[in-house]
Amino acid sequence: MEKTISFECGQTRHVIFFKDSRDMSEIRDNSVHLVVTSPPYPMIEMWDDLFSSFDHRIAEVLQYLKEKGKSLPAQQALRLMNEAYDLMHEVLLFPVWDEISRVLVDGGIACINIGDATRSIAGLFRLYPNHAKTIEFFEKKGFVSLPYILWKKPTNKPNAFLGSGFLPPNAYVTLDVEYILLFRKGRARAFPPKYQLRYESAYTKEERDRWFTQIWDDIKGERQIHSKLYRRTASFPEEIPRRLIRMFSIKQDVVLDPFLGLGTTTKVAAELGRNSIGYEIDDSLYDVIVERLGLNQPLLFK
Ligand SMILES: C[S@@+](CC[C@H](N)C(=O)[O-])C[C@H]1O[C@@H](n2cnc3c(N)ncnc32)[C@H](O)[C@@H]1O
Repeated sequence: MEKTISFECGQTRHVIFFKDSRDMSEIRDNSVHLVVTSPPYPMIEMWDDLFSSFDHRIAEVLQYLKEKGKSLPAQQALRLMNEAYDLMHEVLLFPVWDEISRVLVDGGIACINIGDATRSIAGLFRLYPNHAKTIEFFEKKGFVSLPYILWKKPTNKPNAFLGSGFLPPNAYVTLDVEYILLFRKGRARAFPPKYQLRYESAYTKEERDRWFTQIWDDIKGERQIHSKLYRRTASFPEEIPRRLIRMFSIKQDVVLDPFLGLGTTTKVAAELGRNSIGYEIDDSLYDVIVERLGLNQPLLFK
């Protein structure tokens, strides 16, 4: 029996399913207003085992490249790298994006925080542009691409540099932004005139000016209370879902995160008066999510 967490907060309901979000059959078609999520990033080493658990070919190709890669012609090695990279998107991310497309209402928005990856395999350093693959998928699926956000993460290694000292031409640019891709299902949502919940959800001019700009460079990292866990799940700072939820949903909407991690999206959705649904495949995160949501205090637990 899968674990679940379910609680109420004011007038809103929140449910977390500890299961694989490639199947979200618990959710009705056209019933979610906003998706805010950050998946495991393909070709980032920390997620190799997870992706391989969905398709053994991924582990096999990566292992083969590790053992034999350097002796292969560059083109053949690149083809194999692409095979692993494509499979990671195809076996995990695309099926979840398909489910998102089913459950979003018309006019509903998907906000996907994803980073590109760089990696040296078989003596070839290269970029894996995860954001581009994701945009291509959503466009083919018939979503409307909206201008995206570049989240410039604070780095504790400002001079991090990959390459050979000061000598051109073989140095590489550092990856120091992540993408927050924005897609809409069909036309913009319409509301009756003076719809109260919409007005109650308004942001200020100052917030609008700061948020609706393409580069976010003012978001500080989380104070890492569970720092090891935060690293293991690559959690985003609460400010990311807080802004996105306020920008792209109204109070009492339903917000979904199919890659919930430590429950950041649920926590913020509850604080902002939105309903939420989360999916997380790793049920060992149950206790820390319960604690993070303050649900271990019996009075709050329903
Ligand atoms: C990058 S983390 C998300 C971090 C989250 N935004 C937070 O703030 O904690 C991705 C999460 O997706 C989970 N995951 C991976 N595959 C999944 C699947 N098929 N279904 C549900 N969750 C999955 C991983 O266990 C991991 O916790």
